Amino acid sequence: EDAEKGEYRHYMQKEIFEQPAAIQKTLEERIDSPETLINAFGEKAPAIFDQVKTVQIVACGTSYHAGMVARYWLEDIAGIPCQVEVASEFRYRNHVVPEGTLFVTISQSGETADTLAALRDTASPNYVGRLAICNVDSSSLVRESELVFLTKAGPEIGVASTKAFTTQLTGLLILVLALGRRKGLADSEIEKVLAELRQLPNLIEQASALDKPIESLSEAFVEKHHTLFLGRGVQYPVALEGALKLKEISYIHAEAYPAGELKHGPLALVDSEMPVVAVAPNDELLEKLKSNLQEVRARGGELFVFADKNAHVKESEGVRVLNMPAVPETIAPIVYTVPLQLLSYHVAVLRGTDVDQPRNLAKSVTVE
Ligand code: G6P
Repeated sequence: EDAEKGEYRHYMQKEIFEQPAAIQKTLEERIDSPETLINAFGEKAPAIFDQVKTVQIVACGTSYHAGMVARYWLEDIAGIPCQVEVASEFRYRNHVVPEGTLFVTISQSGETADTLAALRDTASPNYVGRLAICNVDSSSLVRESELVFLTKAGPEIGVASTKAFTTQLTGLLILVLALGRRKGLADSEIEKVLAELRQLPNLIEQASALDKPIESLSEAFVEKHHTLFLGRGVQYPVALEGALKLKEISYIHAEAYPAGELKHGPLALVDSEMPVVAVAPNDELLEKLKSNLQEVRARGGELFVFADKNAHVKESEGVRVLNMPAVPETIAPIVYTVPLQLLSYHVAVLRGTDVDQPRNLAKSVTVE
């Protein structure tokens, strides 16, 4: 086992650092040109994609957060309406299926019971196809879906998902472009995002280089009982994923909020005992986020901000800033995931938990 971990102390740590390579593999031979993007989804993709009017995504846990990011992309970049729901809710309620719905499952294992059950309940003729975004090609989910995009993360051992998540996001962005093209998204727009995707492994590498500063920052969390994560727009699901990671492996209660909702409740909780982590890429919501952060600061909350180095978020008393590389807007959620993974990892190590096998959790939940 130690040999497999190589220089790393835990599988999770190894898997975090494998992300540039895992993403590179997931991109390989798939993003050569706008016309060929669709090939990554199987032979039936052209006929099915042409009928798609709307997308329903279903997944659990970390994979659900990937779906939430994809919704922002699908509606923003491709103009395709999208719904996302956790499988354990979706499968047990009556829902209306709009005509021309593509049903998309996202799963690392391809064996999650609720996700599979949701897939098996898609008899409505309004579904035009079922696509699995999955990391295991021999899985039930893959076998039972007519379209498949395989993430190439390689085996993920740590219960807390890391490289599976970022490769899912990579695959989902390719899906958005491939579907968008059928709906008239210009090749010049697609080329722009493809150029960003090609930079992704390198940018993830740069974000991973924050490991040491994040390790020292993690000391501020060890004695805390609660943490708040803030993001706006497409970074909101990134904040949710950051909070989930911290809960899973360090057992610190964490919540994530879209920063604009702060004043509708969570601000009442903020004091010097409640560290607040914010992701602040240099996008159009930055100024709004900065004013949300001031609200936190005014209540004595200690802030930890992962910010684009060009965002001019200043360090001051109670405000720690970690400078992220300048990242193109579309791929920013993928890159900003990495420092949050590292933060949870280091907090958990300091707290002495079983990082790779946290209590009460399983890697793949194959029973209800
Ligand atoms: C479990 C794992 C999570 C994972 C979720 C969904 O809860 O601990 O890490 O995100 O299942 O798993 P899947 O294999 O469907 O992505």
